[in-house]
Amino acid sequence: MAARSRASATMANKWSQYLLVFAHEHIDFRMPEFQSILSILNIMAEVKETEDKENPFLLLRLPSEESGRKIMSRTVLGKYLLELWASASTYTELYEKLRHCPQELISSHCRPDISFKVRVNSYGKTMKQPRQLELIDEVTEVVPFQGKVELRNPDQTFYLLEYYGTDPNNAPEKPYDIYFGRLISDGQRELINRYSVKKRHFIGNTSMAADLSLIMANQAMARPNMLVMDPFVGTGSLLVACAHFGAYVTGTDIDYNIIHGRGKSSRRDANKYRGPNESIRTNMKLYNLEKFYIDVMVADASRNIWRQQSIFDAIITDPPYGIREATRKIGSSKDYTIEEEQIAAHVPCSIGYHLADIFTDLLNFAAFYLRLGGRLVYWLPVSRPEYSPDQIPDHPCLTLISNSEQVLNISISRRLVTMEKTREIEEIEDSDSMCAEIKNDIYKGHNAIRKRYFLPRSERMKLKDGKLYNGTENQT
Ligand SMILES: C[S@@+](CC[C@H](N)C(=O)[O-])C[C@H]1O[C@@H](n2cnc3c(N)ncnc32)[C@H](O)[C@@H]1O
Repeated sequence: MAARSRASATMANKWSQYLLVFAHEHIDFRMPEFQSILSILNIMAEVKETEDKENPFLLLRLPSEESGRKIMSRTVLGKYLLELWASASTYTELYEKLRHCPQELISSHCRPDISFKVRVNSYGKTMKQPRQLELIDEVTEVVPFQGKVELRNPDQTFYLLEYYGTDPNNAPEKPYDIYFGRLISDGQRELINRYSVKKRHFIGNTSMAADLSLIMANQAMARPNMLVMDPFVGTGSLLVACAHFGAYVTGTDIDYNIIHGRGKSSRRDANKYRGPNESIRTNMKLYNLEKFYIDVMVADASRNIWRQQSIFDAIITDPPYGIREATRKIGSSKDYTIEEEQIAAHVPCSIGYHLADIFTDLLNFAAFYLRLGGRLVYWLPVSRPEYSPDQIPDHPCLTLISNSEQVLNISISRRLVTMEKTREIEEIEDSDSMCAEIKNDIYKGHNAIRKRYFLPRSERMKLKDGKLYNGTENQT
């Protein structure tokens, strides 16, 4: 057990103990999301992290039940939070502890006028219904409940939870841990359905899933009165999530069609071409979030269009990886000048935008346009066999907060990188703002990730030995 604390030991001892139960997905994102939420709400917590990352239970000490409710009003990965009444590794021990439960808990929540229900869940092993009923009978004998049992809408819900480890095929006969506690609040899982891309009006091929968008918004610490910007905005999924948390949102994209809701539709059930109302604004309207929507613009993220430094409170984005869409920026390999009278009607040509440049440009942009303390949250695609932490881009004004992996296939994953602006550009001596770097840049060539993504399996395995694309290619 590794212990970590944002509060002094004496303070934390007086606090009640809680159990946060996580959903079984995006395991690597659990703690970064949770820690970001603590920072957003300015809540101190004593957290007892287990070494087993897949364990869905997180023991906490919190200053109040209210702080627990606030945390649950933001978390997408937290399923529910319990006030922990007892935990043990055997039922004999659990019931003994429950018999000696503090009197104030019993007198506040087990009164005759308080209806209740008990739910039983087991993690890592299926529990049949007769056993569930047997356990409910046992625990209601031990805890001196006095109110009516109410299954539909009880005043209080209690949970009895068993944990058998994370490998259902090798689950032990008896649970490792047993918990009993009172439900404080559910998390925000229902938002995943509310903002589901499947039901959204305007979508594209790379629209970000609702759960990941909401996790990113938490990592970006999106909250009321903030200004959040997405430089590769696409269909605006990340803007929806940030606006949900009350932030004002804006963005840019190089693709005229996506910004103006034109071109071919990505919806399976739709006509071939997008209808007149397929736009980010319509999505915002349908979600009742239009008041947070500033607007979006056609612009190339590699070029500077903003006048004022430090204007954004957060930058949140999913840049193109070149797998499902091309990585392009404005430019030409030819050297030419445009006549004055042709400028207005001129459509610039585009050239390949190398992955390494996309990410160093993004960090340089964030270092200049984020306010101090503001966050940059973005996805970085990596080749799994070749990954090492020094492939995460660096900037002297930005501090890495977290870096979590989402596996896409055997050879490619993407990492959700969260950085915080901790210095102003002017504080860096002998330097201009363009000083982002990637210490180990193995993605130099154009479409470097795409090439790896579409490699045959036999070739992918060779990546392990660093035989392919080992930083020496430079194809455009
Ligand atoms: C992965 S998608 C973003 C998807 C978006 N998060 C969503 O939910 O719809 C990347 C976007 O970057 C845009 N893009 C590509 N190159 C660009 C550039 N140089 N400047 C700005 N946008 C660019 C693409 O048009 C695409 O819409």
